[in-house]
Amino acid sequence: MKKTVKILSVVLALILVIGCFAACGKKEEKKTEEKKTLVMATNAEFPPYEYHEGDAVVGIDAEIAKLIADKLGMELKIEDVAFDSIIPGVQAGKYDMGMAGMTVNEERLQSVNFSASYATGVQVVIVKEGGSIASLDDIAGKKIGVQTSTTGDIYASDDFGDENVVKFDSGAAAVEALKSGKVDCVIIDNEPAKSYVAANEGLKILETEYAVEDYAICFAKDNTELKEKVNAALKELIADGSVQKIIDKYINA
Ligand code: ARG
Repeated sequence: MKKTVKILSVVLALILVIGCFAACGKKEEKKTEEKKTLVMATNAEFPPYEYHEGDAVVGIDAEIAKLIADKLGMELKIEDVAFDSIIPGVQAGKYDMGMAGMTVNEERLQSVNFSASYATGVQVVIVKEGGSIASLDDIAGKKIGVQTSTTGDIYASDDFGDENVVKFDSGAAAVEALKSGKVDCVIIDNEPAKSYVAANEGLKILETEYAVEDYAICFAKDNTELKEKVNAALKELIADGSVQKIIDKYINA
């Protein structure tokens, strides 16, 4: 009898020790698993939403993302990549989210999820002052410059034919092509358009707006947990006026 009790207590003790090891091991794992960095992919060729100031990426998106990361107790890390590699990179889990003045559309919703919208964008047409395009009706058959894979690219290709669309790595490159006569107009979002027109003489924006869109942050389909967290933070920042304050600082000032 005594012997069995002894054996039993040894077995019990062993189970306890093994159990503790397993539990401690798990805890360790969880600690390293827990992510402290929020990796945001953007394409910093899109003033005033994202652009370079020295080595830093600054702008509306960078500032809103920083406030979101602060709310989540995370460290924001911005990766500046080609616009058309943001969604594939987010899908692959290379980046936690994509924020790049990115328009929500049906096609993108097939590949990623979007947060609530935090800003409105308008597609406009930049032309040369006194050039051959005076209104939207004059665009047919002309060469249209766009940034690859943007909604400007999609509209231009759909409405005027792929053969008339010239794709560039950045809006700035498309605008250079307009200046040098390689394209006749550029279809791009209104805020970057304004900043390009302000920085370059002899350009103007056509009065008629091409399309009105919603900007939002994108996430991998399977990362609904982060999407929910970011969305909650974003909604608070919209409700308390912080988002508007940032937009006003860059746009209405
Ligand atoms: N709003 C447009 C789109 O979603 C253009 C965005 C370009 N953004 C950028 N950071 N280059 O397609």
